[in-house]
Amino acid sequence: MENRINELTTILNEANYNYYVLDKPTITDQEYDKYLRELMDLEKKYPEFKKEDSPTVRVGGEVIDSFNKIVHQKPMLSLSNVFNEEEIIDFNNRVVKEVGNQEYVAELKIDGLSVSLIYEQGKLVRAATRGDGITGEDITHNVKTIKSIPLTLKEKIDIEVRGEIYMSKKSFEQVNEKRIENGEELFANPRNAAAGSVRQLDSSIAAKRGLDSFLYHLPNASDYSITTHYEALMFLKKLGFVVNPNIKKVKTIKELLDYIDYWTEKRDTLPYEIDGIVIKVNDLKIQEKLGFTAKYPKWATAYKFPAQLVLTRLKDIIFSVGRTGQVTPNAVLEPVILMGSTISAATLHNEDYVRENDFRIGDIVAIKKAGDVIPEVVKSIKERRDGTEKPFYMTKVCPICQSKLVRKENESAYYCVNLNCDAKRIEGLIHFVSRDAMNIDGFGDKIVEDFYNRGYLKYFSDYYLLFKVKQELKELEGFGEKSISNLLNSIEESKKKSLENLLFALGIRFVGKKTAKILASFYKNMDNLLNTNYEELITIPDIGDVIAKSVEDTIHNEEFLNEIERLKSHGLNMDYLENTISVNELFNEKTFVLTGSLTKLSRDVASLEIEKRGGKTTSSVTKKTDIVVVGDKPGSKYDKAVSLGITIWNEDEFINNLNG
Ligand code: IVH
Repeated sequence: MENRINELTTILNEANYNYYVLDKPTITDQEYDKYLRELMDLEKKYPEFKKEDSPTVRVGGEVIDSFNKIVHQKPMLSLSNVFNEEEIIDFNNRVVKEVGNQEYVAELKIDGLSVSLIYEQGKLVRAATRGDGITGEDITHNVKTIKSIPLTLKEKIDIEVRGEIYMSKKSFEQVNEKRIENGEELFANPRNAAAGSVRQLDSSIAAKRGLDSFLYHLPNASDYSITTHYEALMFLKKLGFVVNPNIKKVKTIKELLDYIDYWTEKRDTLPYEIDGIVIKVNDLKIQEKLGFTAKYPKWATAYKFPAQLVLTRLKDIIFSVGRTGQVTPNAVLEPVILMGSTISAATLHNEDYVRENDFRIGDIVAIKKAGDVIPEVVKSIKERRDGTEKPFYMTKVCPICQSKLVRKENESAYYCVNLNCDAKRIEGLIHFVSRDAMNIDGFGDKIVEDFYNRGYLKYFSDYYLLFKVKQELKELEGFGEKSISNLLNSIEESKKKSLENLLFALGIRFVGKKTAKILASFYKNMDNLLNTNYEELITIPDIGDVIAKSVEDTIHNEEFLNEIERLKSHGLNMDYLENTISVNELFNEKTFVLTGSLTKLSRDVASLEIEKRGGKTTSSVTKKTDIVVVGDKPGSKYDKAVSLGITIWNEDEFINNLNG
């Protein structure tokens, strides 16, 4: 049996590599599925023979409780930006001034998220996000499901490699189509979709998202006798990684500008999104000489593409109501593709904006989209008018509740001031569960709206009563036992959120994420905040007249106070929980196993230090083990930890983490 398991593992890994890395399939999908099923069955029967690089891990299924922090061996830096030819020439001049004329490697700037991969003896043992550049998050369980990332390298070496995880345009469309069917909020772009996928605790979600990878950086290239960046890329390819095929060595600025022009023109033909071109000095010795600023390498920069414009017809102007009651005109557009996504709506901001630009219904208009920002109508093409265009009139009543709108002094926006306006309530309820607010998973906009219309939700506090109608909810279309219990768990979990999340969630006017944090850290708990007044509020740094007035009004509003009482009665945390992700989070409530001989401290001391930080040490590696600390000459515990995908620290990492 062991032989057959080994054989199937080899066949499937080989097929995977040919398909996902070389783009040259060698077996049919049916054959692949057949072998995979056979292997899964055998592994189930004989788990002791399951190989650590078994392709069955690609299917996902591993679920973690929370993301471990990982301190990068070398900081993961970001790149400086240049936006035009002049700035590219300046960048080159700075290089030439320090180290003379250089050959560069020009690469596509893949619009995904960067990842660090650690291989030991050729086996993938850890994958981490960039995080703040110093500390990232352990996403190994999800990265193992990405089929173009090898679980085993062609050579048995210890190596760290870095690159980009991304979602192709095609997968992005498929993922969003599914989300429409499920009434979930759509991902704004492939990058957000990729980032959202690797931030899942359950790896079977990432496994279904069609993620892909390009590797482009080898932090310790000199350890492998490599002298240029280009060679490093070829080495990565030889090891089994996907390196983007459109890399180019360029000797002159003219060649570089031509490369940029070419890809500016051709970027839409690529199956994935790029947001610029990366330029890197090829010679690694020279790279070292140029060094780094506090944030960026001086030997590389990123040219960012300008925001893209496309023309389309403005079919209509409709109005929407936000959670503050602001009524915004929106463009209904003839659908067009812009930067990989189909756009059929765009904001027109407010009445003044439409008037100043003289947008008329029927106009041909230019739509702009820059990065993450929502698309915007920037101008109308007056020469293309034929006289049938209709002028714009701002609505004077709320499009939802029909109450008269109010234009506030010195503001160009109109507001619906009806407290019971359905649209405002729905928007407020949607905001309440959003990520930076109470972060309740599973509530897409459509679901909130549906629950509101069915009478399950009116106040924020109603989320915490949903458990009472569990049976009814299970009967709704699109829901089942599992999704409802996930939803209810997520609601329960949100009760622990810190005061700043709650303040932000409550949607107090002018209290955004940052202000909520300032208020929470100043007042420490809800009651202190409710007992404050304008005079005190205005003394807080960064709190001005407008915010202070709004907060004072709110804390005297009876409806608001009633709502706080209800939330309290449901057991929501009302305190500010200071951010203590540092040392304790890494150890607290974690189970450790020590293996191999530690050279810098004794095992007893190590165990004691773990206990002091809220963790415990056990002797054998099981699924419940969180972290294995590996010293010299580790034994089978280490192998077991690798095969279970458990976080592994070497002694230095362990000591660094102890020291925070
Ligand atoms: S090199 C020190 N090369 O762009 C080397 N980065 O704005 C750092 N990116 O954080 C990265 N494609 O996530 C490099 N071909 C490429 C890239 C690339 C995309 C991303 C990467 C980085 C960000 C910087």
